[in-house]
Amino acid sequence: MKSASCEFRQIPRNRCRSMLLAILLAPVGFVPALAAAATEPLAESDSLRIYQESCSVCHGDDGKGAVWGRNSLSTTPRDFTTEISRTELTRDRMIMSVTHGRPGTPMPGFGSQLEDEQVAAVVDYIRGRFMTGAVQADTATDASGYHERQFPDGLTGNYERGRSLYFRNCIECHGSSGAGDGPRAYFIFPKPRNFLDPATQQILNRPRLFDGVADGVIGREMPAWSFVLEDQDIADVAEFVYREFIAADTTGT
Ligand code: HEC
Ligand code: HEC
Repeated sequence: MKSASCEFRQIPRNRCRSMLLAILLAPVGFVPALAAAATEPLAESDSLRIYQESCSVCHGDDGKGAVWGRNSLSTTPRDFTTEISRTELTRDRMIMSVTHGRPGTPMPGFGSQLEDEQVAAVVDYIRGRFMTGAVQADTATDASGYHERQFPDGLTGNYERGRSLYFRNCIECHGSSGAGDGPRAYFIFPKPRNFLDPATQQILNRPRLFDGVADGVIGREMPAWSFVLEDQDIADVAEFVYREFIAADTTGT
């Protein structure tokens, strides 16, 4: 990684250097820890170190977002301690976001710098330290099976119904091809994401699509559709998005 990327992300020089160093040294420094990881989880001090070296520069030592980050990043890091974060951020989702980044925001993907165990450890650190009371229901230890997860409440989405709902309600922003290039997208910032982007395809599974459509996206022009659509409609349109764009290459069902 070149230092230019720090300027791009507007990270203060001194923090940037230590962050880069941390990222560069991480694979070397963590070799002993990784050898142990197969049998036991990373120690609390390791996850604290990862957080301080790679995350607090933007997310702040208190998990509420670093001051400079709040003022200078194009998308402000969220406050992990709020009720909204507690309900919205499942452990799975956080693991996916930390691994692959959040397309369209300055949140980088750490998949090439951190081992899976380290990603899980730092996510658990955030959840334990800042998100106390977070819904503990999903305690899967890794992201395997992530794309097999189904809609909440046993709902099954109807692709054909979803298709017409999508064309009626969503294409003005998300575009008929799902690329985020509908006629209205031109006037929106940040723009709707490209559903065909590989990182997005990794992150959005059925439950996540359902929640995203139902609740909207805070601070973006994505409406909360639960005000106008029934849960079944939301499952239908989410099913369409999932099969048409997200799983475009993989689903035969
Ligand atoms: C360059 C600044 C920056 C760094 C470094 C950074 N983040 Fe982020 N992060 C962001 C921004 C901006 C967002 C998008 C707004 C939000 O949801 O907070 C974000 C989002 C997130 C989210 C929520 C993603 C979602 O699904 O909505 C998690 C979890 C997260 N970051 C964890 C981490 C962890 C863990 C690290 C360190 C390994 C880290 N971040 C490093 C800026 C950063
Ligand atoms: C007024 C414009 C607009 C309309 C209409 C709209 N969206 Fe969005 N949508 C956005 C924007 C902006 C975002 C935020 C950027 C992003 O994550 O793509 C977003 C985000 C999303 C996401 C990602 C949610 C997440 O968890 O990150 C999904 C899924 C989605 N939209 C589906 C839909 C569906 C399905 C419809 C129709 C029922 C719809 N949108 C209608 C603008 C719109």
